[in-house]
Amino acid sequence: MENSDEWIRISAPATTSNIGAGFDIFGLAIHEPADIIEGRKIPSGLVISGIDGPGSEGITRDPEKNSVTIAAKAVLDAMHADFGIEVKIHKGIRPCSGIGSSGASAAGGAYLAYVMTGEKMPKDQLIMCAAQSEKYTSGAVHCDNVAPCILGGFTVIPSYEPFEVLRIEPPKDLGLVVALPDVMVATADARKVLPKEVPVKDLVFHTGHSAAMVYAMMTGDLGLIGRSVKDAVFEPARKHLVPHLAEAEKAATDAGAIVSFMGGSGPAIMAFYDLKKGKQLGDRIADAIKNVYRDAGMKVDVWVTVCGSGCRRI
Ligand code: HSE
Repeated sequence: MENSDEWIRISAPATTSNIGAGFDIFGLAIHEPADIIEGRKIPSGLVISGIDGPGSEGITRDPEKNSVTIAAKAVLDAMHADFGIEVKIHKGIRPCSGIGSSGASAAGGAYLAYVMTGEKMPKDQLIMCAAQSEKYTSGAVHCDNVAPCILGGFTVIPSYEPFEVLRIEPPKDLGLVVALPDVMVATADARKVLPKEVPVKDLVFHTGHSAAMVYAMMTGDLGLIGRSVKDAVFEPARKHLVPHLAEAEKAATDAGAIVSFMGGSGPAIMAFYDLKKGKQLGDRIADAIKNVYRDAGMKVDVWVTVCGSGCRRI
């Protein structure tokens, strides 16, 4: 077999995970930014022939260590494919961001191999293939970024063993502001600061708020979504990793956000707002967060966006 001339391009969106009470359980696809993964069939093996975009200089080209190729290989192996893949990775989501950078690369790589093998693999198996890559990069299997990245919308993982995932269409009027201050937080490091055990009162608190969040997403109740984003355990243990987090969250809610919280393992800062009040409200929330970091002399990237669809061929 010769190298194919046909390049397939996959868009893999950013995602926000945890969303208050749903540590390793809840995830939400974000319309932008996204990684673009390109690939073509080659006779055998996995080859990375290019990586560009923000933070790409620090990303390994070793196919056994790179998120895209680990996940793509898992799909090829499971489907007994008789070919390999050459990939080019265009990062739109910089690494160590808290908006699923490694998850987008893993999901994009898995989805690329899924398309190349005829789209036969069930989606829950595809998510688990992408999660193998997350295990390698973060030290733990967590699917709360790769699940929404592949399925789009809001996802819930009620069980890892056996694996089960639910997809819920989020409310159309749920506006998102994503802020990324110029610090790096590796998920593996952010998981090391977590407590090994939690008190029963925190378990009760998280169970109640996560149940309410699922109800709120299903019924489109933005007020209840805001009241459900509560975290007694994970953000408190990690907040020292994100400079000016509390000030940025307060600035966002003072500017009219329904709620603001740490995205994933940080340093991303998320805010939800009511899109019915106009995108200008999102812009005001974005400006309020930018001002916090400008006053602190720090760079911050901000997107005013909406919920996203999952991986797709472009
Ligand atoms: N649930 C994971 C964590 C997401 O918080 O460690 C990492 O993006």
